[in-house]
Amino acid sequence: MLIARSIAELRQHLAHSSRPAFVPTMGNLHAGHTTLIDRAKPLGDCTVASIFVNRLQFLPHEDFDSYPRTWEADCAKLEAAGCDVVFAPRETDLYPERQTVKVQADPVLGDILEGEFRPGFFTGVSTVVMKLFMSVFAGKAEGVAVFGKKDYQQLMVIRQMVRQLALPLEVMGVETCRAADGLALSSRNGYLSEAERAEAVQLSLALRELGRDALAAADALHTHLPALEAKAMAGLRQRGWQTDYLTVRRRHDLQAPQAGDALVVLGAAKLGATRLIDNFEI
Ligand code: PAF
Repeated sequence: MLIARSIAELRQHLAHSSRPAFVPTMGNLHAGHTTLIDRAKPLGDCTVASIFVNRLQFLPHEDFDSYPRTWEADCAKLEAAGCDVVFAPRETDLYPERQTVKVQADPVLGDILEGEFRPGFFTGVSTVVMKLFMSVFAGKAEGVAVFGKKDYQQLMVIRQMVRQLALPLEVMGVETCRAADGLALSSRNGYLSEAERAEAVQLSLALRELGRDALAAADALHTHLPALEAKAMAGLRQRGWQTDYLTVRRRHDLQAPQAGDALVVLGAAKLGATRLIDNFEI
């Protein structure tokens, strides 16, 4: 497995690739990430993973400084998964000057849900993903980028960016990997205490129940939804969570659903100091 610490090194390593398959990450890898590598491998002629903790997508009070940096373990996992190239740029290489030119997500999609509770998050994500895409795919006629559906809204923001900017690559979404009890795998699960880890699955259980309630109310969804969402959030709050949102949206644009729309249930809530997100297509 080759390692590139700069864009120039990456381009050398990818000189002979005509269709890279790319998995962007912030490191602290778990089985969810290695599944993305497994899915990416047959899609291109060279599998590339990036490891870069992107300052631009963290709010000042968030965990940029404490975000786990686990370089040796990450490389071992990527190598075992059959990754060909790891791109781990230094911050000064990806951001050699203050990044004043940014990629702004469409506010209709990017300023709701995660974007409402983490203002600027999707601008930070879109900007770094565009820079990573330019690093990996520049000069290539085609390629594929693989993202987890756990970050459902992020996947939609990236798809929209790729589509509207006509980038010559495909974006593939991969199902969320879950622990045996149903908790979605996330690097941030490592912040949970033992008691919090046992409680954490309640977010996905609450979302599943909200999904069932929404399907049962399908004919008059618009009328019943506010009460169903409020009930789901109250249930978690009673258990000690701080809820940002538990909501049912239509899949294609994450706006409020009408009868007959394909649906997705999404949620974000804090357990102690740890903010978790999850979602289910229903
Ligand atoms: O999903 C993530 O890990 C990050 O948001 C990403 C896509 C690597 C951009 O920093």
